[in-house]
Amino acid sequence: MNFLKGKKILLIVTGGIASYKSLDLIRRLQENASNVECILTKNAENFVNVLSFESLLGKKIHSNLFTLDQESNMNHIKLANNSDIIVVAPCTANFLSKMSNGIADDLATNVLLASNKVKVIAPAMNTIMWGNKIVRKNISNLKKLGIHIFSPYDGRLACRTKGVGKLMEINQIVENLNLIFSPKILSGLKAVVTAGPSVEKIDPVRFLSNFSSGQQGYEIADSLIKFGAETTLISGPTTLEPPKGVKFIQVKSGNDFFEFAKKNLPCDIFISVAAISDWYVKKVSKSKIKKKKSGKFGRMDFSLNKDVLKYISSHKLKPSLIVGFSAETENLLKNTKNKLKEKGCDWMLGNKVTRNNAFSSDKNKIFFFEDNKVSEWPKMKKNMVALKLTKKIVSFFKKNKLVKDDKNIL
Ligand SMILES: Cc1cc2nc3c(=O)[nH]c(=O)nc-3n(C[C@H](O)[C@H](O)[C@H](O)COP(=O)(O)O)c2cc1C
Repeated sequence: MNFLKGKKILLIVTGGIASYKSLDLIRRLQENASNVECILTKNAENFVNVLSFESLLGKKIHSNLFTLDQESNMNHIKLANNSDIIVVAPCTANFLSKMSNGIADDLATNVLLASNKVKVIAPAMNTIMWGNKIVRKNISNLKKLGIHIFSPYDGRLACRTKGVGKLMEINQIVENLNLIFSPKILSGLKAVVTAGPSVEKIDPVRFLSNFSSGQQGYEIADSLIKFGAETTLISGPTTLEPPKGVKFIQVKSGNDFFEFAKKNLPCDIFISVAAISDWYVKKVSKSKIKKKKSGKFGRMDFSLNKDVLKYISSHKLKPSLIVGFSAETENLLKNTKNKLKEKGCDWMLGNKVTRNNAFSSDKNKIFFFEDNKVSEWPKMKKNMVALKLTKKIVSFFKKNKLVKDDKNIL
């Protein structure tokens, strides 16, 4: 989800070894359709070439507080007011200390003082500088002033040392900026999402599972977080990174899913995307079941797992909105409709499991069931399915007056 589209971003580049990385940041913001203006400090101009910045931006950078030309075109007050956000990346120790103390001795620091917009700094410096007490004090002060700090990473630094001080990865900076702009309409609500496959043990080395990748559930959790919901993700084993800001609970068996879903009540939104096995093996062998060369292979007895969705839907602490997913290989519409009724949830999203849909694809085609109505969604990427579902959730909570209508960006 791109919330950076059309946003006016004022990027301040200060004079550090990582200044060249700002070019990449500009490119990435432009790819996200942001409108970027740029100020370079005088010292930044010692590290990078102004022409590179102007070529990439397709316009002039701003640097001088006292140049009549620039002042009459767009003075520091105009620059401050004309942006949605001011991002200092990279931010030197010198610059953050000036910010922390309200020093205004160049264009960049004047713009910051004259602006009441959201401000972000992405510091980058030598590890000892980053750990220096005066820098720590200034960072803590900037945090208190409400400035977002995109803290540096641990890694190999240009000064040939290793430690914390490396500029946050550009991708991460862009992702974090996106998060700042995401509308927080669902804030104050608690959401629980289940995702991924369950794993039912057969013996110490074997298990029964399925091909669920977990991607759809992770995308939904990510989307709910971006819209402000406090989100818990209960996930079976997957290869995916949990979304930033999620409360992550790693589980294995169907019973684990059940126990943690129960533990996370009450909540406002419950979304069951996990492919939880209907059965578990009744008697898990304590030792590895040995291969038999001939004769009977023995038998395996199964018991039914507890039905998480049905349990949540009939609980006295029933969430305001309960959503289920139904993965089918045939009779998708009929089975999904039946499931909606049988489980007692509010909405059911049917997705057909084929070679290039649902489990094994990053795209999904959804049939959305609510009461007796079904609507067909076009096949789309799973993050777009997540966004469409989140928008429906927002409408539901607005319609039922469970969220304030005026909650919006920043
Ligand atoms: C080669 C070199 C590399 C530097 N790298 C950094 C750096 O990565 N981070 C930092 O905080 N300061 C760094 N400095 C120090 C800053 O350039 C110096 O504090 C300068 O006054 C910053 O100016 P500005 O904050 O106005 O852009 C470096 C200095 C030199 C000579």
